[in-house]
Amino acid sequence: MIVCRTKADMRETVRSWRREDVSIGLVPTMGYLHEGHLGLVRLAHEKADRVVTSIFVNPTQFGPNEDLETYPRDEDRDLALLKAEGVHAVFMPPVEEMYGAGGDAHVEVPGLSGILQGALRPGHFRGVSTVVTKLFNIVTPDLAVFGEKDYQQLTLIKQMVRDLDMPLEIIGHPTVREADGLAMSSRNVRLSADHRADAIILNRALDLAAELAGTGPAIADLEALVHATLATAASAEVRSVDIRDAATLSELSGTLDRPAVILLAVRFGDVLLIDQRVVAPAS
Ligand code: PAF
Repeated sequence: MIVCRTKADMRETVRSWRREDVSIGLVPTMGYLHEGHLGLVRLAHEKADRVVTSIFVNPTQFGPNEDLETYPRDEDRDLALLKAEGVHAVFMPPVEEMYGAGGDAHVEVPGLSGILQGALRPGHFRGVSTVVTKLFNIVTPDLAVFGEKDYQQLTLIKQMVRDLDMPLEIIGHPTVREADGLAMSSRNVRLSADHRADAIILNRALDLAAELAGTGPAIADLEALVHATLATAASAEVRSVDIRDAATLSELSGTLDRPAVILLAVRFGDVLLIDQRVVAPAS
């Protein structure tokens, strides 16, 4: 497994592969890998001849009061996991290498970046779309795999690629869960034992909502059910519950008559967890 810490090394590696006419799949991550990330890597292996994983905790997508400093990191463990998965190259540049002298050019998807999580975390999605564009420009993959868990991120990246004619395919991978249903996340390790026990309420709320959705309920009833279920966990501080059109993330009203995505953001202590589920009426 080749480890590239500079853009030049990464580009040279890709250049040598291109001579063999192979396809390249990229899995962008911020490290501290878990089964969820490894699922993305396995899907990339199915779709491409060479797999590159990037590990970069991107400072520009963290707000001033967010957890950049405490974001968990474990480089040796990450490299061992990726080697075991047969990843061909890892791109892990230091911040100075990635951003250099630090100009102010950026990429933004204005509509999608200002709503939902974007309204709660100003600047977050601009940081994501900019760093993802940089990764695409450096690695030049034929495809990139992202988790559906970050549904708004995936929707926004798909739109960015479409709008800007970026020459690659974006593939979503279903959320990978712990045995008790908690969506895997690097942040889960920061939950206290009590908060960890309470956090399974997210998946429970989504299960109940999916059942109700099958009956074609009023959107307001679906939302009320999710709130009532989340309220049964003592430490859950609900930041947002949103039910949106699954394809465009536009607002829905009245009765559920098409696939919708339920997006949850809930704090447990100082850890913000997100989860999502696409639901649809039975017919
Ligand atoms: O989903 C993530 O881990 C990050 O937002 C990403 C896509 C690697 C960009 O920094």
